Amino acid sequence: MKPREIRPGISWVGAVDWDRRLFDALIPLPDGTSYNSYLVKGSQKTALIDAVDPTMRHVLLSNLDHLDCKCIDYVIANHAEQDHSGAIPDVLERFPKAEVLASPKCKGMLVDLLAIPEAKIRAVNDGETVSLGDRTLEFIHAPWVHWPETMLTYLKEERILFPCDLFGSHLATTDLYVTDEGQLHEAAKRYFAEIMMPFRSNIEKHLTRLKEYPMEVIAPSHGPLHNRPEFILKAYHSWVFDKPRNIVVLPYISMHGSTQRMVEHLVDALAHRGVSVKQFNLTSADIGKLAMALVDAGTLVIGTPTVVIGPHPNVAYAAVLANALRPRIQFVSVIGSYGWGSKAVEQLSALIPNLKVEVLSPVIARGFPKEEDLKAVEALAETIAQKHREQGFA
Ligand code: FEO
Repeated sequence: MKPREIRPGISWVGAVDWDRRLFDALIPLPDGTSYNSYLVKGSQKTALIDAVDPTMRHVLLSNLDHLDCKCIDYVIANHAEQDHSGAIPDVLERFPKAEVLASPKCKGMLVDLLAIPEAKIRAVNDGETVSLGDRTLEFIHAPWVHWPETMLTYLKEERILFPCDLFGSHLATTDLYVTDEGQLHEAAKRYFAEIMMPFRSNIEKHLTRLKEYPMEVIAPSHGPLHNRPEFILKAYHSWVFDKPRNIVVLPYISMHGSTQRMVEHLVDALAHRGVSVKQFNLTSADIGKLAMALVDAGTLVIGTPTVVIGPHPNVAYAAVLANALRPRIQFVSVIGSYGWGSKAVEQLSALIPNLKVEVLSPVIARGFPKEEDLKAVEALAETIAQKHREQGFA
C-alpha cells in the first residue's frame, strides 16, 4: 500500500502483511498484521519513526521513494524487536547520514540483534526532546511494553503518540484509522492478551503517566491508527485496572469421555449458579481465543485425563501458556480422570508458579465419573460461585 497522509508532512509509510499467520512461531494471526512506520517532516529535519519487518523492507523503501524522500536525519527506534527494527540497516544504507535514536537499553540490543554500528546510534533519555524545526519529538521511556528497552515517542505540536507495540492490533486492513470499533476491540484484546498481559503492572504505570499527554491520534506500530484515542485507552484501562469478572475458563482434553462428562457437569453446575464459562477443547482450540478469555476470567479450571501418570501434553501446554501470560485469575482447580494412578494435579501445579492464586480442591475420578465424583464437581462449582460472589466479580 502507498503512503497515507496523517497530517501535512506526517505520513504512514509502513507495510500491510495480509498473509502472515504466525508471530514468534507461536501466536496465531487470523487477520494478518501490519508493520507501521511513520515519516515526520519538520521545517528543518526529518524523522522516520520505527521501521518494518525485514521481509517488507522493499515496501518501506518504495514508500519513501514515493514521497520523494531525499534525506532522513533521525530514525527513531522505539523497540528493538525485528518486526520494527529489522529494516533499519536498509534505511541506513539508503540514508547514510541518518542517526538512530533509541533508549540506552535499545541501543545495546540494536547492536546485538542487527549489528548496527554503535556509532550510528545515540541513546536518548526519558523526557528528552529532539527538534525537527517546527515540530518536536519527546521520548517517553516505557520499559516492559513488552521488552525491557521500549519507549514511546510523542509529537507535541500535533498531539500524536507513537507507542510502537502498545495499543496495537494484529489486523491487516486498508483503513488508515479504526473504522469498526467492534472488530478492533476483538483484535486489540487478543493482542493485549498474547503480548501485553504478562506486563500488566508495568502497563498500569505507563497508562497513569500517559494521562499527562493530550492525544488527538495514537499511531501504533501494528493495526489501524486511533483517531478516537479514548476508545483504546478505555479498553486498556478495563483490561489492566478492573477486577476479574464472574467467568471460569475451562481448557480441557478428554480421551475416552470421562473428563468430558465431568466438564459437562461442571459447566452445567456453574451456569445454574450464574457463573459464565468459556470452554476450550484443546484438540482444536484457537490459543489466541483462550488467551483472550483469560484477560477477564476470575477462575481457571483445567480438565485433563491422565497420560501415563501426568496430564495430557496438550493440557500441559495450555498450563505453561497460562503461566507465561500471567492473567489476573484468582482461583485455579483441576478436574479429570485416571486409569490406574495419577500425578496430573501435582505436575500441573508445578507448571504454573507465576499464578498467584488460591487452589480449589481438585476432583480426579478413577475411570468414568461415579455419582460421588459428580457430587464433588458440583461442590467445586458451588465453591467457585461463592468465591466469585465474595470477591465481587460481576
Ligand atoms: Fe511488534 Fe514487540 O514487536
